[in-house]
Amino acid sequence: MTETTQSTDAEQAAESTQTTGIDIEGGTGQPLEVTSGETREQTRDEWVEYEFDGAAKLAVEDLDVYYGDDHALKSVSMEIPENSVTALIGPSGCGKSTFLRCLNRMNDRIKAARIDGSVALEGEEIYQDGVNLVELRKRVGMVFQSPNPFPKSIRDNISYGPRKHGDLETGFLAGLLGRSDDDAVDDLVERSLRQAALWDEVQDRLDDNALGLSGGQQQRLCIARALATDPEVLLMDEPASALDPIATSKIEDLVHELAEDYTVVIVTHNMQQAARISDQTAVFLTGGELVEYGETEQVFEDPESQRVEDYISGKFG
Ligand SMILES: Nc1ncnc2c1ncn2[C@@H]1O[C@H](COP(=O)(O)OP(=O)(O)O)[C@@H](O)[C@H]1O
Ligand SMILES: [Mg+2]
Repeated sequence: MTETTQSTDAEQAAESTQTTGIDIEGGTGQPLEVTSGETREQTRDEWVEYEFDGAAKLAVEDLDVYYGDDHALKSVSMEIPENSVTALIGPSGCGKSTFLRCLNRMNDRIKAARIDGSVALEGEEIYQDGVNLVELRKRVGMVFQSPNPFPKSIRDNISYGPRKHGDLETGFLAGLLGRSDDDAVDDLVERSLRQAALWDEVQDRLDDNALGLSGGQQQRLCIARALATDPEVLLMDEPASALDPIATSKIEDLVHELAEDYTVVIVTHNMQQAARISDQTAVFLTGGELVEYGETEQVFEDPESQRVEDYISGKFG
């Protein structure tokens, strides 16, 4: 594990509010492309037809992402319902991580990336001038593929974010909880670790270095750390792909539980996992297109698109 990956969240939290490299107003001048067998209009109809109960937490419209000349995401539109699990699946390189990173403007950090289109969080455009990226990423937290706890104690991993945001120093948290600051930290640490199903395993070793935990425990700590800043949305990019089957199943159970209180968007290359844990599934295919989006059961059992059926039945990947 490198120093760089360990500090990713810290850097993320410390990101300035500059909006360099983003072009949301101007058109791209690119002609609309039509893919083999399906026009974009046909696939768009399917997305519009996907109706879900409850409110949309995130609404993505005509999202294009370019890395230099590489057109990585092509006019993606989808609405993500709140308090549910949305799985993003598709072959390697189809743009799943790119899409996920657009949801809390993590692509702003990639110099070559250019983003065109709209992403609204509860109706409010996140790609507009004046959006506070620290605040945005507090509301839309992220968990990465490899566990990346800070080389600090378990307790400090949890309190780091709220401290960074000034919520502890200002007494915001204590005020909120009606407690002293020290008690507020204790409460926060316990609450976050319980939410991440890790409390029972670590409650007697909160001052131990987090790097001494197993991989699966480290990943649950990273989830607890993300929850500690009280997010509304949790983005997870293949959070179990580096873990053994038992640790994976704990993360899957956890994701399921978290959807009661949070909007979870999870990338997985594991189709069985997507089928097990998600309420709705979005299938991206090579070329950066969203080809199908709907209720998970429908997408897996009776997909509208032949290309998706071929992908799901393993005819290509
Ligand atoms: N930081 C980057 N710089 C340049 N190209 C990138 C970068 N990240 C991803 N890409 C390109 O964008 C496309 C989609 O990548 P990615 O979103 O990582 O796909 P996935 O997560 O589905 O494997 C790929 O062609 C990849 O090479
Ligand atoms: Mg990826």
